Amino acid sequence: MFGASANDAPGTSSSASTSTTASSARADAPVMPHNFVDLSPAEQAAVLREHLHYHAHRYYVLDDPQLPDAEYDRLFQALQAIEAAHPELRTPDSPTQRVLGQVLEGLTPVRHAVPMLSIRTETDTESSGAEAFDARIRRELGLPPEPTPEAPPVEYAAELKFDGLAINLRYEHGHLKQAATRGDGETGEDVTHNVHTIRQIPLHLKGLTAPVLEVRGEIYMRRDDFDKLNEAQRERGEKTFVNPRNTAAGAVRQLDARITAQRPLRFFAYGLGEVQGWDIPPTHSVMLDALAEMGLPVSTDRTVALGATGEQGLVAFHQRIGQARDSLPFDIDGVVYKVNSRALQERLGFVSREPRWAVAHKYPAQEQLTQVEGIDVQVGRTGKLTPVARLKPVFVGGVTVTNATLHNLFELRRKGVRVGDTVIVRRAGDVIPEVVGVVPTGAAGQGGARQPYVPNFRMPTHCPVCNSDVVRERGEMDHRCSGGLFCPAQRKQALLHFAQRRAMDIEGLGEKLVDQLVDSGIVRTLPELYKLGLAKLAALDRMAEKSAQNIVDALEQSKVKATLPRFLFGLGIRHVGETTAKDLAKHFGRMGCEDDGRTGGIMDASLDQLLAVRDVGPVVAQSIRTFFDQAHNRDVVELLYAAGVRWPTHDPSAEADAATLPLFGKTLVLTGTLPTLSRDEAKDMIEAAGGKVAGSVSKKTHYVIAGAEAGSKLEKAQSLGVTVLDEDGLRALLAAGQS
Ligand code: IVH
Repeated sequence: MFGASANDAPGTSSSASTSTTASSARADAPVMPHNFVDLSPAEQAAVLREHLHYHAHRYYVLDDPQLPDAEYDRLFQALQAIEAAHPELRTPDSPTQRVLGQVLEGLTPVRHAVPMLSIRTETDTESSGAEAFDARIRRELGLPPEPTPEAPPVEYAAELKFDGLAINLRYEHGHLKQAATRGDGETGEDVTHNVHTIRQIPLHLKGLTAPVLEVRGEIYMRRDDFDKLNEAQRERGEKTFVNPRNTAAGAVRQLDARITAQRPLRFFAYGLGEVQGWDIPPTHSVMLDALAEMGLPVSTDRTVALGATGEQGLVAFHQRIGQARDSLPFDIDGVVYKVNSRALQERLGFVSREPRWAVAHKYPAQEQLTQVEGIDVQVGRTGKLTPVARLKPVFVGGVTVTNATLHNLFELRRKGVRVGDTVIVRRAGDVIPEVVGVVPTGAAGQGGARQPYVPNFRMPTHCPVCNSDVVRERGEMDHRCSGGLFCPAQRKQALLHFAQRRAMDIEGLGEKLVDQLVDSGIVRTLPELYKLGLAKLAALDRMAEKSAQNIVDALEQSKVKATLPRFLFGLGIRHVGETTAKDLAKHFGRMGCEDDGRTGGIMDASLDQLLAVRDVGPVVAQSIRTFFDQAHNRDVVELLYAAGVRWPTHDPSAEADAATLPLFGKTLVLTGTLPTLSRDEAKDMIEAAGGKVAGSVSKKTHYVIAGAEAGSKLEKAQSLGVTVLDEDGLRALLAAGQS
C-alpha cells in the first residue's frame, strides 16, 4: 500500500525525475519536466496530479505498479505541501482529497438521470437459461430459431455477475462529480464522500472531456481482503462481518467516510447511465474497452459469445465460469449475457423495468438462510470435538444441506449461534458447509425472534461417543476426547495409523478392510487385530481366501518385526511422531509392560522423567502422561504384548556411548532405489548406527548412498566431491564401524 512517508519534493530529488523517465516507463507514462522546480505552484500541482493519477491507476486498477511506494509517497507529499501553501489550488478530484473530514447527518437522495434498471434472472443451473435467452432474442429480432448463413448467431457480451452493490458514477468533463447507490432504481443515495475513498475508482477519467458520462458498475470486496478485515476486527475484539457483499454495501452507505476508507473496497464497471457529448461505441464490449482505457477497472473475465451453443457460445462461457467460480478472488452469483450491438439493444427495448437485451444466468447460491434445529458434537478422527449445527434442510451450493460445521467452541461463541436462530449457511465448491453467522433478530424480516431463554451451547465434559474425559490444552482452540484408542470414532483412524508402513507395517490392512472390520464390530481395539483368524477374515465380503491368508501372515510378521519406536509411534499418542518416539525409545529403552524382570519405562514415566528426554517439552510430556493415565490405553499396550507383539529393549544405563557408534556425527543422503533395502529400512539402520539422514546434498554431507535411477542428488554429490556409495558400501560402513 502507498502510505509510508517521505519528505522531499520531486525536482529537489533526482530520483523522482529519473524514475519516471527511466527506460522501463510505458509510452503513456507522464514525463516529469526537467524544469519542474521553475514551474509555478499551479503548474507543479497539475504535473503532480497527472503523475499521481497515472501511478495510482497502475497500482490500484491494473495491479502493475511502475513506481516504488516510497516514490509515490514523495510525489503525494509534494502535492500536499503545495496545496497546504496554496489552498486555492486544491481541487475536489486531487488525489489528496480521497478522505474528506466531515461526518454526514444522513445520506441525501439522488434522482437518477436515467433509471437504474434491474435484470431478468434465469435461475436454472444448467445450460437452458442461455438457450432460452438466445431463442427469445432471435424471435424478438425476427430471426429463424436456428442460425443460417443469412441469419448468423447473435453476438453477445458475456460477463460476470458481481455480488456487491450497484453504483452510478457521474463524471462531468471527466471529473467524478457524484456517486449514488441504486436505491429503488429511480432514486438512490448520494455516497460521493465514501466513493472518493475507493482507490480503484478514478477521480478523473483519462482523455475524457464530455460534459456527462455516467458509469455504472459494482462495488465489491475481495474474499482475501474480507478475511483480513475480519482477522483485524477479531484482534481488536470487535465484531466480525458476515460476508463480503454485506460488508461492501454497509461500507458504501456509511456516514463517516473515514470508516469507508478503512474497508478494502473495489469496483468493476459494466454499463452506462446518462451520457452527453461522448460517442458511445457501437458494441457493449468495445464500450467496456473504452472505459478501461479511461482508467476504470473492467473485469477481464468477459467474452464476446456467438449464440448459445458451440465453442464460442454462452453455454460454454457459463460452464467455464462455473468451474472457475470458486477460484475467483471475489464472489459472483452468476453470469450476465447482453446483446452486444447497441443498435440491436435499442431495437429490443425494455419490458417494464428490465431490458429485453440482457439476462442474468445464476449459479446455485452458495449462501442460504435456514434455522438451527440443534447443535450436535461430532468426534473426529483425532478425537477433536466439532460442534455441528443441525439445520432445517436447505438447498445451497447445489445440494441439500442438513448439517454445517461451527468449527469449535470459540467460533460458535464468536458467531453467537443458538438453537432456533436463523443463520446464513455457506457451501462453496466441495468445501464442507459452514455457518457464516446469525441473522440478527428481525433483520429485513428474516431472523425470527429468539426464544426468551435459550441456553448457550456448552461443550460436553465427556466424549459423547465413549464417555472419556474431554480435554482442551492450554492455548488450544479445540476440545478433544481423551479416549484415544478406546473411542470408536477414533478407532478406524487409529487402526490405520497403527498398521501403516512406518509403524507396524501390516501389509494389506488398508482403509476398506478397516472400515469393514470396524463397521461389522469384529475389531474394536488394536489387540483384537491379532485375534483375527483366517476364518473371520475369509468370511468378510469380497475377501478371497488367498488375501485373507496374506493378512494373517502380515499380522504374524508384524509381531516380530516391531521395534520400540515403531510400536510407540503406532499407538497414535498426540504429539508423539516418529522422531519423538525414537527419542523416547532411546531414552527409556523399554515400554514398561515387558516381561523382562525389570521395572520402569515409558508408560510409567513421570512428567519430570519425560521432560528429561531430548526435545520433549511440557506439551508432549503432558500428552504422553494423559494417554497412559487412561487405564484402557494401558490395557491396549498390555494386550498387544500378550498377543505376542515383541520389540527389542535395551538398558539405557548400560548404553554404549553414542560417540563410539560407527556413524556418529555423520550425515548421509539416500537417493535412488537400493537393491534390497527400502528407504525406511536404510534410514533406520543409519540412525541406529548414530548417523543422520538428510534430504538434500550439501558440502556438509559425508556420504551419498545411491541406488538405481539416482538423479540430481547424485550429480550434486559428484560435483561437490562427496563420497558416493551403493548399498554394499553402506553395509560395509555399518559393519566395519569405520567412519
Ligand atoms: S447490467 C440494464 N452487468 O446485477 C442492465 N449488472 O439486476 C443493468 N450486476 O444490481 C445491469 N454484475 O448491480 C449488469 N455484469 C453486470 C453485473 C450486474 C452485477 C448487478 C447489478 C444489479 C443487478 C441487476
